[in-house]
Amino acid sequence: MNPKDIQKLKTLDKNLIWHPFTQMKEYEREDPLIIEKGEGNYLIDIEGKKYLDGVSSLWVTVHGHRRAELDQAVKDQIDKIAHSTMLGLSNVPAVLLAEKLLNIAPKNLKKVFYSDSGSTAVEIALKIAFQYFRNQNPPNPPLLKGGEGGFLKKTKTKFVTLQNAYHGDTIGSVSVGGMDLFHSIYKPLLFDSYKIPSFDLEWAENLFREKHHEIAAVIVEPMIQAAAGMILQPAGFLRKLRELTRKYKILLIVDEVATGFGRTGKMFACEHEAIQPDLMCVAKGITGGYLPLAATLTTQEIYDGFYADYAELKTFFHGHTYTGNPLACAAALANLEIFEKERTMEHLQKKIHLLQECLIPFKTSPHVKELRQLGVMVGIELIKDKKKNLEYSLEERIGHRVVLAARKRGVVIRPLGAVIVLMPPLSISEEEIQKLTQGVLESIDEASSPSPQPSPSRGEGETRGIPSPLMGEGQGEGEI
Ligand SMILES: Cc1ncc(COP(=O)(O)O)c(C=O)c1O
Repeated sequence: MNPKDIQKLKTLDKNLIWHPFTQMKEYEREDPLIIEKGEGNYLIDIEGKKYLDGVSSLWVTVHGHRRAELDQAVKDQIDKIAHSTMLGLSNVPAVLLAEKLLNIAPKNLKKVFYSDSGSTAVEIALKIAFQYFRNQNPPNPPLLKGGEGGFLKKTKTKFVTLQNAYHGDTIGSVSVGGMDLFHSIYKPLLFDSYKIPSFDLEWAENLFREKHHEIAAVIVEPMIQAAAGMILQPAGFLRKLRELTRKYKILLIVDEVATGFGRTGKMFACEHEAIQPDLMCVAKGITGGYLPLAATLTTQEIYDGFYADYAELKTFFHGHTYTGNPLACAAALANLEIFEKERTMEHLQKKIHLLQECLIPFKTSPHVKELRQLGVMVGIELIKDKKKNLEYSLEERIGHRVVLAARKRGVVIRPLGAVIVLMPPLSISEEEIQKLTQGVLESIDEASSPSPQPSPSRGEGETRGIPSPLMGEGQGEGEI
């Protein structure tokens, strides 16, 4: 791209776009990194510079960018139809994908409800859980005749979630969230939910014992809370929670939006503890990072709770316009076919071990407080002074500084506050794992050192022993 067009795009970006989870005052001061192309595990910007995609383009890319099979699947589908509605109609890839999804999901899940983002998948799960109990206890007089019949008091309407939970940004998913930094401002808009502190199962059982008659469901990310900063759950927590929810007739919703499609080393994180949820939310990696698609999977029993004559008004009145979009479903089908064809999960195990080894030097860094890993999901929690147990302040923007330092080394990452997140595509090579971890370790060193070190100038190719790809100097990412 010629320099004039590059400058024009950068100016338009700053002038016209309001970026998500980004303080625009900060963004506008920096040089925007605008991506034009992708290739394998790399992003390529409008200046032709390559960056290793260390967070799978926000946790979605699975088999790499520009995968021939995925490109072809979308092209083939475009020659047939790009979109038709799922409201009252169906489409070929959506049907075939439902079969494939249910084949790989926990065996008790029998139905697929499509939508288009992780947040919508969660909203749908919450609404299904709520209405499932309401349908068992319909109001009298019926709602349409203006009656509430007091049913809200009698049936199960409440949700339980984990401390620090993140399930998306829509009002329902924020209501079951618990990250003060993102969520507290919206408090007046939210419905209340109970929050299990510190994975305390005794606390949870006491709550269930006392309140089970009013609790519809518990929602959890299985095994690891990703956006909370890659917080690992104690072994056995999920299994015990499943037992308790069964005992007290409370539904269990697992949010596999971040963990699904191989990220934890299993296809779904539920498999680590062999649990079967009542509802499961998937999105992000479902299309291999190609198109927006999500699904809420559920059981025959829950589905049957909505199955009635129309006049009973038990229908699930919910549906997004692009629900089950054929292009997205075609991409998802091709994505899942690659998992089978290439035995992705089998090959991934070696990469997970290598990643673990490459992370060992982080443990001795004076700036790393804790390292957390499950599969290819990694959280590196930074600290200003380990000996004095001195944390970074919000103003210090340590995560952001590490991100900018990594960009100079040709690596794109994104922090969660003072936690540096790595979540490379499953297709990452062994060499790229080394490049990613070394680049990030150096970036932490650089960003944490009291006097900023001179940064390599544009086009320099070597950083502390690792060959950089084409260097980048893009700026401008706010941390989540
Ligand atoms: C566990 C989890 N649930 C839900 C969401 C929301 O997904 P989306 O951004 O697609 O709405 C996310 C996004 O990061 C997530 O990590």
